[in-house]
Amino acid sequence: VTSSFGKRRLFREEGVWNYTTMLLREDLNMLILGAREAIFMMVNCIYSPQVYWPVTNKEQKVCSNKGKDAANDCKNYIKILHKRNDDRMYVCGTKAFIPTCDYMVKGKQEDGKGKCPFDPSQRYTSEMVDGVLYSATSMNFRGSEPVMMRSSEESIRTEFASTWLNEPNFIHMAHIREGDSTPEGDDDKIYLFFSETAVEYDSYTKVDVSRIARVCKGDLGGLRTLQRKWTSFLKARLDCPIPNNNLPLLVQDVFHLCPGNWTTCVFYAVFTSQLDSFQYSAVCAYKIEDIQTVFSKGKFKAPVTVETSFVKWVMYSGDVPDPRPGACIDNNARRMGFTSSLDLPDKTLQFIKDKPLMDQAVKASEEKPLLVKRGTAFTRIVVATATALNGTSHQVMFIGTKSGSVLKAVNYDGEMVIMEEIQLFEPSEPVKILRISNTKLYVGSEVGVVQLSISECGRYHKCLDCVLARDPYCGWDLNADKCSTINSTHRTRTSTMIQSLSDGDARRCPQTGICIIPQSLHALCSCRNTKSYI
Ligand SMILES: *[C@@H]1O[C@H](CO)[C@@H](O)[C@H](O)[C@H]1NC(C)=O
Ligand SMILES: *[C@@H]1O[C@H](CO)[C@@H](O)[C@H](O)[C@H]1NC(C)=O
Ligand SMILES: *[C@@H]1O[C@H](CO)[C@@H](O)[C@H](O)[C@H]1NC(C)=O
Ligand SMILES: *[C@@H]1O[C@H](CO)[C@@H](O)[C@H](O)[C@H]1NC(C)=O
Repeated sequence: VTSSFGKRRLFREEGVWNYTTMLLREDLNMLILGAREAIFMMVNCIYSPQVYWPVTNKEQKVCSNKGKDAANDCKNYIKILHKRNDDRMYVCGTKAFIPTCDYMVKGKQEDGKGKCPFDPSQRYTSEMVDGVLYSATSMNFRGSEPVMMRSSEESIRTEFASTWLNEPNFIHMAHIREGDSTPEGDDDKIYLFFSETAVEYDSYTKVDVSRIARVCKGDLGGLRTLQRKWTSFLKARLDCPIPNNNLPLLVQDVFHLCPGNWTTCVFYAVFTSQLDSFQYSAVCAYKIEDIQTVFSKGKFKAPVTVETSFVKWVMYSGDVPDPRPGACIDNNARRMGFTSSLDLPDKTLQFIKDKPLMDQAVKASEEKPLLVKRGTAFTRIVVATATALNGTSHQVMFIGTKSGSVLKAVNYDGEMVIMEEIQLFEPSEPVKILRISNTKLYVGSEVGVVQLSISECGRYHKCLDCVLARDPYCGWDLNADKCSTINSTHRTRTSTMIQSLSDGDARRCPQTGICIIPQSLHALCSCRNTKSYI
């Protein structure tokens, strides 16, 4: 069933819930949508073939016999949708606590353990890298064995050790093609974002922290030490500091944008307070070079035992073996005769096995958040680049909230402007997934999916509203007398379009003699020009 509000469209299918997995196939102009026991293929919010993948009565029974809620937990929640190199779709579902994967052409089911969660309500993440699945989830029924793993013939995973992953909540994974061109002959990285129980705080209560970890694509594990385990798993704290807040904020979602080659990549992350998520939400940005510096040049932390049993993690100041623990196989390693991680010496491997945590945290760019908001819980983020009328690029953030709205925000030279907040789900439903294409935003929740245009310029009927919105996508077209989405034609004929992003100056708007109640000082200025007030 599809319904439209203006240009927004809501999709939901009778009896189907939990629309929380999406794959955008821009090559096919299609959105593939995973929900509970169903997969939909949608073109422009009109859905075509759908695949049902229910659990059997037997599976449901076995699941409920193990103490799970038959009507809710013992279903098949579609959690993973990826495109394989051969163009087939790879799908995984929770299958009543027996995670299972399949190719969209059915009948080739395989074990989904370690790829897809058992428990549908648990956070997890995955990424397909050159046809190989990387995943971070729990490997067992109880949810007590968290792993980050690569599922190839020789699968590689993290150690089961709290020094590696300590009650983690997995958030996001990203493949960055650093191997494409580096003077050091370095490898591609797969970054993992999560939160976990901290070991580095002197606190009697449990404190969680946000983390970024990474592994190298070419990692094959060690020969004896760390056999079939990552030799390149390093993690660091991810800071998003806000004043007067004692407990660190926790990461909820991450999106990355690489405008040029990989050196330009920036990760945008949303955070919320850890005790009361409505207290503060924030967005922080992280540059790839800052992340790299921490992992490739930073110091490590090491555990020391103080007072018989209490373990404290402090900066490690002893010798660090060469090749550097956790480094990918690069030119330095090759010069020393190590051509694969299988060749790495025990000293290097033992070091990383015991001490995967970096001493330094990865700091937010400018060492402060791009945006802080009180009383709203941010849940998801996507970012797009908009080219303004004068040709300048701006990063526009679309932020989903727990109350079912999407904020559209942009940063103009350090000044954060929230252009609008659009309520999409009523009654309110948390935003559970966001995906963005060139022109459209897809917002998923437990109850349905909304598709909307990333530039709804037609919403502004007056020149003043259009210009004061300070939306880089929109400008007032003097010829057409309407608010339009800016395109390349307009950029060459700037005289017929009005846009004023940095100061919302609407003085060039046609004078109508009537003025809307001014919302800001700038509006006041433009009202003054028209010499009339209400
Ligand atoms: C699926 O959606 C239903 C309806 O909103 C909700 O009650 C349920 O908690 C959801 N299940 C999970 C695992 O999120
Ligand atoms: C990436 O692009 C920048 C600027 O466009 C350039 O200076 C740099 O050399 C490039 N780096 C790589 C590794 O290609
Ligand atoms: C730009 O938009 C105008 C309408 O505002 C349209 O007439 C024109 O064809 C568009 N140009 C391009 C390149 O899309
Ligand atoms: C374009 O506008 C932005 C903000 O309004 C301003 O910062 C920038 O300098 C302008 N660029 C050019 C090329 O005029």
